[in-house]
Amino acid sequence: MMRVLCVGAILMEERVLSAKLTSEDIEYDKSLRPKKLVEFIGQARIKEHLNVYILAAKNRSESLDHVLLSGPPGLGKTTLAGIIANELGVGIKVTSGPALERAGDLAAILTNLEVGDVLFVDEIHRLSRNVEEVLYPAMEDFELDIIIGKGPSARSLRLEVPRFTLVGATTRTGLITSPLRDRFGAVARLDYYTVEELEEIVKRSASILEVGVNAEGAHEIARRSRGTPRVANRLLKRVRDYAEVKCDGIVDKNVAMEALSFFEVDDRGLDKLDQRILTTLIEKFKGKPVGLNTLATSIGEESGTIEDVYEPYLLQLGFLMRTPRGRIATEKAYEHLGIAYEDNNLTLF
Ligand SMILES: Nc1ncnc2c1ncn2[C@@H]1O[C@H](COP(=O)(O)OP(=O)(O)OP(=O)(O)O)[C@@H](O)[C@H]1O
Ligand SMILES: [Mg+2]
Repeated sequence: MMRVLCVGAILMEERVLSAKLTSEDIEYDKSLRPKKLVEFIGQARIKEHLNVYILAAKNRSESLDHVLLSGPPGLGKTTLAGIIANELGVGIKVTSGPALERAGDLAAILTNLEVGDVLFVDEIHRLSRNVEEVLYPAMEDFELDIIIGKGPSARSLRLEVPRFTLVGATTRTGLITSPLRDRFGAVARLDYYTVEELEEIVKRSASILEVGVNAEGAHEIARRSRGTPRVANRLLKRVRDYAEVKCDGIVDKNVAMEALSFFEVDDRGLDKLDQRILTTLIEKFKGKPVGLNTLATSIGEESGTIEDVYEPYLLQLGFLMRTPRGRIATEKAYEHLGIAYEDNNLTLF
């Protein structure tokens, strides 16, 4: 049994803490995903605002204004889109920026919506320019301008589409064009969760998955979850596996600590890749600023993944700094890794 776990640990080495969605998550997501606004833990201001918008739209029997949700992976954007549809009592169609290759793909989806439906577009920053331009009049006037045919015989056709609510999600607000952003009535930025909020999420998930976890065990998992519910749920599952094999299945502080160090999740929730980013900056590049692409190549990871998944949390912890000349590890990072910090008096700007 132990060997199975070890093999698992090696395979999962760099995955346990990544906030990126995996196929395993998709299965669990179904059961763990809150369906109502009251079940959604944390993000208090966003919840309050959404609650008001939703009630107002329902009272007026109108469709809800378009909503843009942004924030790092695993913080609950897809979950909130589902909740919005559920609270409004309408259907939801799900697609994504890269899936909508041609304007016709978007037209087909829009014309098939029921009045009031939610259209969820994940990774909306990856919409092609053509599709984005067709989306503008659809969002504003619920009309589509479609060009039929090519060359001199091409003609433009105006189609009406049912009133719908677009819920867009993005991990990169900076990449959303301003004409698109301006067409959203509400823009919400999800932030990392506090340890207390993650503790609640761990307890809620534990009760759904029927895992025995006490308050201290939940706290230990929450503390190392990088402010991210998806990571909290994943760590809970890993700790449960460990607890089932190694002890009586109850997750207390010791079991959580042992399990998390077994899976090489450190005290602040950093995994091997986070640590490698920091040690590469410190040791390989001797503390000098390093460009994102150079860093990505030396670590063997895609630069997009580093920027979207790893960096935001390292920045949040104050372990990493972005300067115009590149990324550098901060004094706090040296301390955390137990490496002596020598101020090399670099001119950073
Ligand atoms: N506030 C919350 N309360 C309880 N569980 C949550 C909360 N937010 C997210 N989760 C859980 O975390 C998991 C990830 O959430 P979700 O898929 O909505 O993230 P996301 O922001 O859409 O991520 P991505 O950017 O990768 O698409 C889900 O299983 C969901 O159940
Ligand atoms: Mg999502």
